[in-house]
Amino acid sequence: MIDQTTDARKHDDPYRTYLREDQIPTAWYNLRADMPEKPEPMRLPDGRVATVDDIAPVFARALCEQELDDDTPFFDIPEPVLEMYKVYRPSPLCRAYNLERALDTPARIYYKFEGNNTSGSHKLNSALAQAYYAYAEGITNITTETGAGQWGTALSEAAAHFGLDLDVFMVKCSFEQKPFRRSVMQTFGASITPSPSDTTEAGRKILGADPGCTGSLGTAISEAVERALNVPGNKGRYQLGSVLNQVVLHQSVIGLESYEAMRELGEYPDVVIGCCGGGSNFGGLIAPFMRDKILGTHPDTRFVGVEPASCPSLTRGVYAYDFADTGQTCPLCKMYTLGNGFIPSPDHAGGLRYHGMSPIVSKLYHDGYMEAVAVKQTDVFGAAEKFAKLETILPAPESSHAILQAIREAERCRETGEAKTILFGLTGTGYFDMVAYDKYNKGELEDHEPTDEELQRGLDTIPHIPGIQ
Ligand SMILES: Cc1ncc(COP(=O)(O)O)c(C=O)c1O
Repeated sequence: MIDQTTDARKHDDPYRTYLREDQIPTAWYNLRADMPEKPEPMRLPDGRVATVDDIAPVFARALCEQELDDDTPFFDIPEPVLEMYKVYRPSPLCRAYNLERALDTPARIYYKFEGNNTSGSHKLNSALAQAYYAYAEGITNITTETGAGQWGTALSEAAAHFGLDLDVFMVKCSFEQKPFRRSVMQTFGASITPSPSDTTEAGRKILGADPGCTGSLGTAISEAVERALNVPGNKGRYQLGSVLNQVVLHQSVIGLESYEAMRELGEYPDVVIGCCGGGSNFGGLIAPFMRDKILGTHPDTRFVGVEPASCPSLTRGVYAYDFADTGQTCPLCKMYTLGNGFIPSPDHAGGLRYHGMSPIVSKLYHDGYMEAVAVKQTDVFGAAEKFAKLETILPAPESSHAILQAIREAERCRETGEAKTILFGLTGTGYFDMVAYDKYNKGELEDHEPTDEELQRGLDTIPHIPGIQ
């Protein structure tokens, strides 16, 4: 490891490393191919392992094939997707010199910044892929859910590009709190319905049980799937912005670019950190580095997933088969889950408020390849503001979970004197989260950690599947 002196920080290396356009990866990397034990297979509610034909009515067929393929290491990125990647990628790998100086740490801190597109986040990497495959298969209508709004915005951009009609079910409390997110999606031509709504069977059922329900990602997913299945002529499909294996696959572009940029700098991370909602940015960022750990070329790299203490699926959930949605209409994934009926507190890191976790990330965690920590949102906003002042990017609250952990790792290096290399994912910008920043500045932001009883109520909704669990 390099001895980090003050001089070494006089930017021998650039603040920002941009790869050339022709260095954008031309294939996504499927980490499952190198995992010694594969994630558990997706199952139908009767316990049967799902096949491509089973899930093809819901997702575009090419995406179903990617979803269920544990063996193919690389999937070529289709040319029309690659062309659009060139519009906003490669994304920069940034050296946080100012943050390092402020922390007086010998650590070298790098972050991969994915906020440089209108959706303001990494979500566009998968949205373009998913919209393209639907378009290529003659699908005319796609549907989705959105919580904080980044995924809905990204898919609106992608749908507009490929000429698809898009229906977005937006979690009702976000719909009301974030009118401008709505406006961006509408600008791209998407229709937005607050969820739960009376426009679907699932929504009516949820409202029947709780007329004041402000919604969750789980409720919005149920409505979006139902809407897709009811498009006449089998021309509708549903698309999901996280959790699924296909999404982690598409997000590997983040890790592959980071890997190449670090190679050019002669660097390799000692620790890789990402925020975890459904696990897609984290799974994508770590993919090539985790391959090295699995194959034994870099066995000591640490991987840390950071989740909100208000929705702690990895740190306080159980590893079990569960539905992806509250309406219990989707197939079952084996994952760390708080139960499909778990409704998190209205925490401002909306994109991290999901009851489950990617089956790939869950398996890696279960098998001891990575660590997880849960952090409080007041600490997260403290880290976000520090970062904004030093690095001139106003980070998304979700991304700021990773910032907080990177700061904690760097502070530990200050105590031990170790010059570790830290890499974290800065998934997006926070310009639509000013209500939350405002509350933090006024001292009105509160931390909420579910009690054991609250957690138990969610865990009780995990299904019993005869012969499986
Ligand atoms: C900016 C940002 N970061 C992170 C996430 C979390 O999603 P994932 O865990 O799938 O990367 C979201 C989700 O909405 C997001 O908007």
